[in-house]
Amino acid sequence: MNTPLLNVDRLTKHFPLSAGILNREIPVVRAVEDVSFSVSAGETLCIVGESGCGKSTVARLLMRLAEPTSGRVLIEGTDIAGLRKGSLRTWRRRMQMVFQDPYSSLNPRLTAEKIITEPVENFERLSRRQRKALAADLLRKVGMSPQMMDRLPSELSGGQRQRLGIARALALQPSLLIADEAVSALDVSVQAQILNLLLDLQKQMGIALIFISHDLGVVEHIGHRVAVMYLGRIVELAHCEALFAKPVHPYTEALIAAAPIPDPTRVRLEAPVEGEVPSPINPPKGCAFHPRCPLAVERCRIDVPPLVAMADGRVVACHVRAPATEALATTRTPEGTAAQTHG
Ligand SMILES: Nc1ncnc2c1ncn2[C@@H]1O[C@H](COP(=O)(O)OP(=O)(O)O)[C@@H](O)[C@H]1O
Ligand code: SF4
Ligand SMILES: [Mg+2]
Repeated sequence: MNTPLLNVDRLTKHFPLSAGILNREIPVVRAVEDVSFSVSAGETLCIVGESGCGKSTVARLLMRLAEPTSGRVLIEGTDIAGLRKGSLRTWRRRMQMVFQDPYSSLNPRLTAEKIITEPVENFERLSRRQRKALAADLLRKVGMSPQMMDRLPSELSGGQRQRLGIARALALQPSLLIADEAVSALDVSVQAQILNLLLDLQKQMGIALIFISHDLGVVEHIGHRVAVMYLGRIVELAHCEALFAKPVHPYTEALIAAAPIPDPTRVRLEAPVEGEVPSPINPPKGCAFHPRCPLAVERCRIDVPPLVAMADGRVVACHVRAPATEALATTRTPEGTAAQTHG
């Protein structure tokens, strides 16, 4: 395995909600709780889970568009929180994002050429000829004709707009691309094209990809590893084939079971398990999945299950399926104190 490009270490984000003056404790949305993972160069890590489980917040924390409540993001061993202006710019160059809705993330008044070359021009001056050459090259890379460089986003199809968003993200030759629901708004056939494009580009350019989706079917085809999130926490992180062949966490199992695969490119995770997703403002104590879990035992209502490394290298947070006596990894509270040891 390569040295990780990115190391995410116990990342936590709580959003305080405004409270009346008499309220001593300000309630918080526990959007991300104690999330750790790493990504190597050229690897695809998928993050999946139902809407509201904290996927986009993780992406925003990685991009430093939001400050973590606690935890660290390390790029090749350097904590990005400590980066000063110059190094932060360099880091931003290396890390780019593709969003769900290319229409709202592309400036409607700029031509494709300007949209693609703008990120580069934030760093260096380009001559007119260099700009045209760069735009043509990137448009070709994403499977579009250079003749489209004079078009406005409104003159492109949804798929073309998303290709344009990808071209823009590639302009700075990033080491890491974060795609947050990047195909979710597209038609099924276009989804597959954009996915293939991302995978081809990743192979050609050796980019690491964090692919965020609520769509389990999409993930099965593209991920090297998959992290399953539930209410802000990673509950299982495994190699893709292992996860789909034999899910260990009851939530992962329910998601896969609820996904008959008539069209493998499109399987929705919406309401895959019985019951409602609890509020991240007041998540259930212990294992947050316990109110919906068919295997729940008494301890599930009390203790947060730690992430435990299994023999096949996956990590799972479940008292029943991954008892902590086998723990190689530990979950800790966001404040940095070790959680209760079990077993
Ligand atoms: N700026 C914010 N202020 C308050 N709550 C937020 C903010 N951003 C996200 N949240 C909440 O954090 C939780 C996780 O959101 P998000 O990361 O967008 O989930 P996902 O991308 O998995 O759908 C949700 O409950 C959401 O309402
Ligand atoms: S810890 Fe308990 S409630 Fe949580 S997934 Fe495992 S069995 Fe279910
Ligand atoms: Mg999201």
